Amino acid sequence: MNQLRTQVAIIGAGPSGLLLGQLLQKEGINHVILENRSQEYVLGRIRAGMLEQPTVETLREAGAGERLESEGLKQTGYNLLWGKGRTRIDFDLAGKTATVYGQTEVTRDLIDAREKSGGITHYEVKNVALHDFDSENPRVTYEKDGEKYEVSCDFIAGCDGYHGVSRKSVAADRIDTYEFAFPFGWLGILADVPPVSDEVVWLNHPEGFVMCSLRSKTRSRYYIQVPIDEDINEWNAERFWDEFKRRLPDDLANKLVTGPALEMSIAPLRSFVAEPMRFGQMFLVGDAAHIVPPTGAKGLNMAIADAKQLFEGLKQFYGNGERKLLDSYSDQALDRIWKAVRFSWWMTNLMHKFSDDLFARKLQIAELEYVAESKAAQTTIAENFCGLD
Ligand code: APR
Repeated sequence: MNQLRTQVAIIGAGPSGLLLGQLLQKEGINHVILENRSQEYVLGRIRAGMLEQPTVETLREAGAGERLESEGLKQTGYNLLWGKGRTRIDFDLAGKTATVYGQTEVTRDLIDAREKSGGITHYEVKNVALHDFDSENPRVTYEKDGEKYEVSCDFIAGCDGYHGVSRKSVAADRIDTYEFAFPFGWLGILADVPPVSDEVVWLNHPEGFVMCSLRSKTRSRYYIQVPIDEDINEWNAERFWDEFKRRLPDDLANKLVTGPALEMSIAPLRSFVAEPMRFGQMFLVGDAAHIVPPTGAKGLNMAIADAKQLFEGLKQFYGNGERKLLDSYSDQALDRIWKAVRFSWWMTNLMHKFSDDLFARKLQIAELEYVAESKAAQTTIAENFCGLD
């Protein structure tokens, strides 16, 4: 067994692990990232793309904000559509903006910054296992290229996503989980075609939710609601474009440019929270502790906020030995997370078709009409969409 020593062992090189690594790197705090996939796989994942203001600031702090600054598209509002009605949620109501910039690009920038600064990431490691995280001497074991390794450390950051090993290493009686699965998914397409709108559009259509999103001025990300058991093999780009266009109002349908799919997939919609987010010297960060439906674009922003918060705790500890911020990490993170879970759940309920029950749809329309008439309601949505402080 090869023996290694570090201060912080980070499991997972998704956005939360990579960001935490970069912030620690800048602070001179010794750490290592262990990732079970290859770097190409990590870079190839297509996911979210709407960054809240604090997320942009944190990426800048980590030295990964340069390209985001020049290529990110500032958003000052987004649009809710239903039947014949529509309203624009102006982010000025919250005094904030949001930025369109793909998670794939965020990941690339963090990996580039890490390479430049000499941070160590071990990709394609196997059988990662966490040990003794209730003691002052936690350890992580793993295998790489047939060799066995043991890393002893002060802290473990479980940044390994929903399917990762960190949360699963906790005894069942020490962790509470809360879960809600929506009975539908989003069928998404990514294509190099100019977006139908330079602002995000959410449409409550009688046959199911439609979303027009974008990744740049030349790359669109569109979604339609499909039943949860829909088979992706039944779909190709042509069928997607037909169905998408059919649900769009005329003004947007007339602007639609179609093209080959760079990616098509079905994402389930669900909410999941694990409590607490700290177990002795081990902390859960990002998707490892919580999942939200994509309505509201909170997933990536929550992961970045967790990583930043844990970094502040570690910085304090290595600065003056105080554990105050580490001790409050879980409670503070969960307070923020539940508010985002609530907003994502609320917006999902407002915009999707749940059944053929017309009573439910009438209520949705009444709520949307109210939002259109009420600055207070629009402000509530803007504040939540842009991120609560
Ligand atoms: N050992 C090492 N690495 C692992 C293990 C394991 N046992 N299990 C999973 N991983 C890696 C995954 O391959 C992935 O690269 O951990 C990483 C977790 O990354 P994400 O799932 O992206 O989670 P996170 O970094 O918290 O990012 C937050 O927000 O918008 C959402 O889902 C979106 O990925 C995004 C997330």
